[in-house]
Amino acid sequence: MPTRKIFVDACFGKETPYTPVWMMRQAGRYLPEYMAVRAKAGNFLNLCHNPEMACEVTLQPVDIVGVDAAILFSDILVIPDEMGMNLSFVKGEGPKFSDPIKNEEDIDRLIGGEEAASKLTYVYDTIKLIKTKLADDKALIGFTGSPWTLATYMIEGQGTKTYNVCKKMMYANPELLHKILAKVTEVVKLYMQKQIESGIDVVQIFDSWAAAIEPNKYDEFSWKYMVEIAEYLKEKYPHIPIIMFPKGIPAFLDNVYGNFDVFGVDWSTPMELAKEKLGDKYVLQGNMEPCRLYSKEATTEAVEDIQNVMQGKRHIFNLGHGILPDVPVENAKHFIQECHRVSKK
Ligand code: CP3
Repeated sequence: MPTRKIFVDACFGKETPYTPVWMMRQAGRYLPEYMAVRAKAGNFLNLCHNPEMACEVTLQPVDIVGVDAAILFSDILVIPDEMGMNLSFVKGEGPKFSDPIKNEEDIDRLIGGEEAASKLTYVYDTIKLIKTKLADDKALIGFTGSPWTLATYMIEGQGTKTYNVCKKMMYANPELLHKILAKVTEVVKLYMQKQIESGIDVVQIFDSWAAAIEPNKYDEFSWKYMVEIAEYLKEKYPHIPIIMFPKGIPAFLDNVYGNFDVFGVDWSTPMELAKEKLGDKYVLQGNMEPCRLYSKEATTEAVEDIQNVMQGKRHIFNLGHGILPDVPVENAKHFIQECHRVSKK
């Protein structure tokens, strides 16, 4: 009998001895051990490209803070990078693409489908290595960015506050935006299929910039592509749970649909509201405001409040977005311990 993974059971809404927990961005700069490996790698992208080191930092939060699932160490932007977009990380400024997509010819020039997905071998090698080292009762989460969130970087060339270049395309030339989204969707389907074939136990789709789209347009420009990816994977791999994380779209909760298992609730959406609208249909993941990690008392208070709402049923604890680099490791450990304490049956 293979060892049960309580994280996977929880994703399918099964009874578990306690509510499992992990943290978005759990492998990262708040851990001195991460900083040491990154220094050895030289920079962040080298770290993503090196399976031994990427494996090491993937496992760190499992060993150090005690989370119930590891998340593959990589970045959503390796996808457009391998589609031919030349990613770099500029110190203090974040990710950059030197030649953003402006027109049809730029899209046609992008490497698509199987050819792009096949170039991400370092990700598949990292997954295979992690699976030889991760304890059998812990789950490995693989991930992708949503086509919309990836497209924002591909069109703007970097992070943006206004999304004005993407939105100009959205309203003035929607067919062009759909053409980009469709091409990215095809790569993502095959990329996630290869992550699953390499050994991940769970899929998470990050739509970090969901809130940039007006609610009436959200389905058209983002959600339907995420659902298309989920449905493609579910048909082939029904035993692999899928987590959807659209950040900051409470106005869309009434319109959520699709074949997936877990809905990731961000910190701006009250858990009560998410439970009322979606709790019967999907397991809910979330959603402590990540800055509460600066205070142990504020952390305990939120964990108890969330537990009071969810009652240990159809729930996975997480932050409502990523952990920040200056959080004390001790406080991150406290969060994990408190999630286990309040939910233990
Ligand atoms: O622990 C984990 O969650 C797994 C690793 C992970 C990273 N990025 C590592 C990383 C995951 C899941 C991501 C996803 C990602 N990358 C998203 C969506 C997730 C979310 O937070 O909503 C986005 C929007 C990106 C793009 C990206 N990559 C940005 C905006 C940045 C920040 C740049 C900066 O200077 O802070 C990155 C870099 C990045 N990705 C880091 C890490 C640990 C920091 C790099 C470093 O300084 O070491």
